[in-house]
Amino acid sequence: MKTKTILSGMRPTGKLHLGHLVGALNNWTKLQDEYNCFFMVADWHALMSEYENPSNIKKNSIEIVKDWVACGIDPEESVIFVQSMVPEHLELAMVFSFLTPLGWLERCTTYKEQLRELEGRMLATYGFLGYPVLQAADIALYKADAVPVGGDQLPHLELAREIIRKFHGLYKKEVFKEPAPILTKVSKLVGLDNRKMSKSYGNFISLSDEKDVVKKKVYSMYTDPNRVRADVPGKVEGNPVFIYHDIFNPNKSEVEDLKERYQKGKVGDIEVKEKLTVALNNFLDPIREKRGKITDKDASNILKHGALRARETAKRTIAEVKHCLHQIID
Ligand code: TRP
Repeated sequence: MKTKTILSGMRPTGKLHLGHLVGALNNWTKLQDEYNCFFMVADWHALMSEYENPSNIKKNSIEIVKDWVACGIDPEESVIFVQSMVPEHLELAMVFSFLTPLGWLERCTTYKEQLRELEGRMLATYGFLGYPVLQAADIALYKADAVPVGGDQLPHLELAREIIRKFHGLYKKEVFKEPAPILTKVSKLVGLDNRKMSKSYGNFISLSDEKDVVKKKVYSMYTDPNRVRADVPGKVEGNPVFIYHDIFNPNKSEVEDLKERYQKGKVGDIEVKEKLTVALNNFLDPIREKRGKITDKDASNILKHGALRARETAKRTIAEVKHCLHQIID
């Protein structure tokens, strides 16, 4: 019997890429054996920044579920659901909003960063300021003990703990758990151009990219900028092509041989990239194959089934919350 619960989520803002796999999904799949897992498509959170143009959210939500399942999230073992299909998230977020001081939200570093980064969108809204309040509700609703996240989400998790503590203090009842982060061991995967991997830079390989697309992307990868010719010794540290080889090429002696020759100026970029293309395509083949067998209908059935299961827990928690607030139940 698993006694502990985790919840994590992703916003359906586009196709998942290798960065998501290394930074989150690999961690999620492993945690399934140990924890009761809730994996949530955070469509309300996506809408907070995409509300002016929401037309892709539904399609992206279906695609993200295919990616998750193809990477090994088991829809029977874990609860896979969409946030908006479990209305209790908004109910709890509303309650949490009563007791969250504006100062906590205004100080949140991720909020300030996003306002700066997501240019061209009107994000100085009431809803967007409350982004972490909804995230706290997501976590608290399932009484999650822990949340697997990347380091960028730590401020949100800290806020969630503060909100939960405040609730417990006010109503003298420990309804929730104080969620701890589970950080991924692998740090962020760099983009193909050695910049931060980002949707707006288009510098990533998607999990659903076809073989020839992978090849094209690998051949466009950034290497050692000081190596102007193949006979010039190059650097392997911090070189994206070798970072990817280290992670995705299981043939360690091949990688060592390439590194050695690269450092001596005895191998061309083409050979290094050819071998990386093969490694990546071998790595992605089973994911692509599994993904190809999951229809839109399958994905939407997974979400319906998941919403039913998620709601069982969510409804129970909301009943407890209402009890604390002296509201009438049913
Ligand atoms: N904010 C998270 C992100 O952008 C997504 C998210 C929403 C989430 N609710 C969550 C993550 C609850 C963990 C737990 O990646």
